[in-house]
Amino acid sequence: MHMYIGSIDQGTTSSRFIIFNKGGEIISVGQKEHKQIYPQAGWVEHDPSEIWKNTQEVIGLALGKANLSAKDIAAVGITNQRETTVAWNKHTGKAYYNALVWQDTRVGNELAELAKDGGMDRFRAKTGLPLATYFSGLKLRWLLNNIEGLREDAEKGDSLFGNMDTFIAWNLTGGTQGGIHITDVTNASRTQLMDLATCQWDDEILQVLNIPKKMLPEIKSSSMVYGHAKGVLGGVPLAGILGDQQAALVGQTCFNPGQGKNTYGTGCFLLMNTGLKPVPSQHGLLTTVAYQLGNEPVHYALEGSVAITGALVQWLRDNLGIIKNSPDIEKLAKLVDDNGGCYFVPAFSGLYAPYWKSDARGVLVGLTRYINKSHIARAALEATAFQTWEVLEAMEKDAGIAISSLRVDGGMVVNQLLMQFQSDILGEEVICPKIIETTALGAAYAAGLAVGYWENLDDLRKNWAIAHTWKPSMPAESRDQLRKQWKKAVTKSFDWAED
Ligand code: G3P
Repeated sequence: MHMYIGSIDQGTTSSRFIIFNKGGEIISVGQKEHKQIYPQAGWVEHDPSEIWKNTQEVIGLALGKANLSAKDIAAVGITNQRETTVAWNKHTGKAYYNALVWQDTRVGNELAELAKDGGMDRFRAKTGLPLATYFSGLKLRWLLNNIEGLREDAEKGDSLFGNMDTFIAWNLTGGTQGGIHITDVTNASRTQLMDLATCQWDDEILQVLNIPKKMLPEIKSSSMVYGHAKGVLGGVPLAGILGDQQAALVGQTCFNPGQGKNTYGTGCFLLMNTGLKPVPSQHGLLTTVAYQLGNEPVHYALEGSVAITGALVQWLRDNLGIIKNSPDIEKLAKLVDDNGGCYFVPAFSGLYAPYWKSDARGVLVGLTRYINKSHIARAALEATAFQTWEVLEAMEKDAGIAISSLRVDGGMVVNQLLMQFQSDILGEEVICPKIIETTALGAAYAAGLAVGYWENLDDLRKNWAIAHTWKPSMPAESRDQLRKQWKKAVTKSFDWAED
């Protein structure tokens, strides 16, 4: 009898392999960061071969640490940074160019051109997404138009497109020796090439963007046996794939309509399960696929995506050097009682939800000689909470229900100052579960359900338990004042990249 489930979590900054037991507890972790490549302002790339190498290493590492081998793993799931786009040759396995990361804004100047016919929402009715630099379709179009040889090879059927889930699945199941070319329905919903109603590639959009259909992966359920791994996991069924934010929704067991979660990572992503119908957004959110389990109907979600939250802390560490390690931000911010009137709008990749302004850029406003680095640290943390509040506000308007508490997870939830401020600024309870590695757990759940390791959703719900609750304690007047100032600061970031 196999005892564990493995989960490959291929994220924006690192790749991890986590081994879980039936209780959803972590048995072992292997993790490795990869290089962030910034060839010019607004461009963000990853080397796909480095990521695949790291993935293999972390699998070996996690197995080794726990003294396990492939025979102890009942199934493996993949979860991934979504939208990050790679094209590779199916005979050599080599990428034609670095992966274009979801935060990359290089297609920004193509948006206005595309919007001429039908406006920024021309694909929204079908895909749930506005025109933005964020999604894979336009990134793939950029590769096809700019990288020599790629379009010719795509038309011959020699080159393959994928988000990182597809690239990892192809390599894991054999690569040039017969790897499978698939994606799951959650990842496909982030390409802006899939019709949300049919969950199939949309021929009309492919034609407008001039993308050869031959290079696209087959769209599958999020939980089923797709194939079997080769290499160190040799023979283990690959049985679950979920985009990382959808995986966190599953990991938090948000299976009922109205249940949602917010994950605090590089960015923040708040998803709410809306059940079996895609709900169109009137307030700047995305309509997206939540998950599909086996042959069950597809579940949908509303999503508020915020591009820069944890990444702002990294920026303070790496670009300004005002902290040495990311967790130091809390200590620094705690040296002052408030933000001293300063607000940091980290529109480094434009503004995502609820504004969708690709030409916004970061601003730090309200500076006086009184402001010191602690105020800036505090403003950076507060920016995460303010952005989450704006998304939640949009979510409540779109869904027509008031959300009375927020389930949270991700790296930043260990920051007490941030979580208390989050609760204060929302005026709601913020709840953190015992297992905060919900992303990897969600993919493990998808894989485990497919092979019968877990029987049903109730098995998973039993694993969820509260570790900590933050309750709001800020007077309503102060909250309103802070919210008002934040909104004003946001307007200062607009229209910057235009000139
Ligand atoms: O949509 C982008 C998101 O999937 C990235 O998540 O956790 O890798 O920053 P993360």
